[in-house]
Amino acid sequence: MNILIVGSGAREHAIARSIKKSKVPNKLYCLASNRNPGIEEISEILEIGKIANPNTVTNFAREHSIDLAIIGPEAPLANGVVDSLQQINIQCVGPTKDLAQIETSKSFTRDLMRKYDIPGCPDYQTFNNLNNVSEYLNTLGENYVIKFDGLMGGKGVKVSGEHINSHAEAIEYCEQIIAKNGKFVIEEKLIGEEFSLMSFCDGEHLIHMPPVQDHKRAYENDTGPNTGGMGSYNDTNQTLPFLTNNDIDSAKAINIATAKALKKEFGIGYKGILYGGFIATADGVKVIEYNARFGDPEAMNVFSLLQSDLIDIFLGIANSSLHKCEVTFSNKSTVCKYAVPEGYPDSPIKGERIDISKVENHDQLYLASVDLKNNILLESGSRTVAVVGIADTLQEAEAIAESEIKHIIGPLFHRTDIGTEALIQKRIKHMITIRDLS
Ligand code: AMP
Ligand code: GLY
Repeated sequence: MNILIVGSGAREHAIARSIKKSKVPNKLYCLASNRNPGIEEISEILEIGKIANPNTVTNFAREHSIDLAIIGPEAPLANGVVDSLQQINIQCVGPTKDLAQIETSKSFTRDLMRKYDIPGCPDYQTFNNLNNVSEYLNTLGENYVIKFDGLMGGKGVKVSGEHINSHAEAIEYCEQIIAKNGKFVIEEKLIGEEFSLMSFCDGEHLIHMPPVQDHKRAYENDTGPNTGGMGSYNDTNQTLPFLTNNDIDSAKAINIATAKALKKEFGIGYKGILYGGFIATADGVKVIEYNARFGDPEAMNVFSLLQSDLIDIFLGIANSSLHKCEVTFSNKSTVCKYAVPEGYPDSPIKGERIDISKVENHDQLYLASVDLKNNILLESGSRTVAVVGIADTLQEAEAIAESEIKHIIGPLFHRTDIGTEALIQKRIKHMITIRDLS
């Protein structure tokens, strides 16, 4: 079986590795945005190209007689790469352009939740001019969020008390969006602890992955600018220390309801990864956003736990036969930490040499935004290398990840606090405080 992976970060490196472990004989082809030697060494071909361009992807797929394509990042989904691949009868893991709106349009997702009465939708309104903006902000008071209605890599979202400190500043941001002819959503600010719960989805059936918590802020103690995610963890027994079983069940039920709603809305089912970005609040689990792909870094956690054959799962998605797949995850803890370039995310350095040779367990090292020139590994300006610790306890998993990431040499930094007891206790206390106040 010839398998195409679109994308070349650590998430795609994790996908590639899991595919290589499959009992289904396969050849891997990667259409990449950077030269990732981790993926390259297990692929027939890694070609650098415009991964979000449907023609480029279909030409590459045709040339290599691809049977199954897995789309890693959101940009190709947003541009309809899956639609184009399906036109030439290539099976895909990833939704078509219409269904990918669950990630690409904030207003689409909120409207879908409202229309189909999906639990966990905050109060919201959609705008494309300033009419009624002030009034709506007054209704929300101090707790509001403004979201540019499109893909902005997380940078289009401004949260009151964090990025915006007054209604005047809020309106200024709305004006900036309007000037770009943009639409935006204003919604209630939700207070709680965020977590990701991803589900494999074949259009009809869902199989849920264990919940994971990512860390969006660049610096220790959740300070600094937002990033793609600095690291993530899960606790033993497929849980998170600040969630109840009820919270996890609610998130699963919301993913099921969302998949059902998408099918009703479009008449065709959602095939791919349905990634719910949730927040546990005093008032139960709410939806922050949806993504139409594996989370990065969350993929590294779930693949470290996955005990089943990933190609079987992917074929189950493509053939709508996921209910026939036995999917199991181990009960271990995992901690993933990213080493990122100095200056990341606002002004990352680029092109500097890094040395990963001292890392002990290369099976749990995932290369991301790197380049290889004259056999020298260079950082190429975004999240660079991820390491994962897997153990029977969170504490041990954290210690492994921390020790390994310190073995990476170069002008990089990472968050030492991810997965530590101190930060976990902070999360638990936060939830207790919130729940007590309600
Ligand atoms: P998004 O791109 O929708 O994931 O938003 C980026 C980040 O903004 C999220 O990870 C949250 O931390 C924050 N955020 C988004 N929506 C809300 C909300 N309604 N309440 C509180 N925080 C939010
Ligand atoms: N970890 C956040 C994301 O993949 O969007």
